[in-house]
Amino acid sequence: MSTEKVIAVDGTAASGKGTLAKRLAKELGFAYLDTGKLYRYVGARLLARGVDPQDEAEAIAVAQGLNTTLKPEDLQDPALGSDENGQAASKVAALTGVRTALLDYQQNFAKTPPGGASGAILDGRDIGTVICPDADLKLYIDANLEIRAQRRFKELQSKGISVTYDAVLADMLERDKRDSSRATAPMKPADDAIVLDTSTMSADDVFDKVRSAVTDRLGI
Ligand code: C5P
Repeated sequence: MSTEKVIAVDGTAASGKGTLAKRLAKELGFAYLDTGKLYRYVGARLLARGVDPQDEAEAIAVAQGLNTTLKPEDLQDPALGSDENGQAASKVAALTGVRTALLDYQQNFAKTPPGGASGAILDGRDIGTVICPDADLKLYIDANLEIRAQRRFKELQSKGISVTYDAVLADMLERDKRDSSRATAPMKPADDAIVLDTSTMSADDVFDKVRSAVTDRLGI
């Protein structure tokens, strides 16, 4: 049994979970894995080759290859953050074989955090339910759809990406629907997760609330 602490941060897109998870990892000195990037990477690789992200055999082959070939810097590519890659990620993420292929990578990260860190924070959709069901702390972060779409719209605008609010809203709605209705590992809070609605909370409010939950549960 590993003694490293694990914090699972799940939730909807643009709910603030990534911002929270990154800040928490920095504060605690834990290793951080944005698991959405793994699905985005698989989706982006397929799109780049002109392959339909719903082509199961191709998607599984890319996901399996990633276990041996992925370098940490591959996940840093800003292009992975586009809505196009988000949609492709959501499509490959609905394929059971892809999820199975990415399981070991995520569980190994949690068990043996890189850099000898004393713990790991994984953010995604199924960390508390499937990847790390024994996590020391599970969080599920959500917010009202329109508010999330506004946040995402502003973020894209600030990066100089030309997009309409309506397109962002439609994209988010479609992705939420696919992510929560898929047969394998649907997006949902674990039974023992702390559920936070961040609609009216600032990033600092969210952080402060979670920071005290960490002290209560993990004693750090
Ligand atoms: O978190 P992010 O928006 O980058 O995730 C992109 C997509 O990857 C999600 O819409 C979801 O379909 C998928 N995903 C997943 N399970 C995870 C993380 C992400 O299915 N643990």
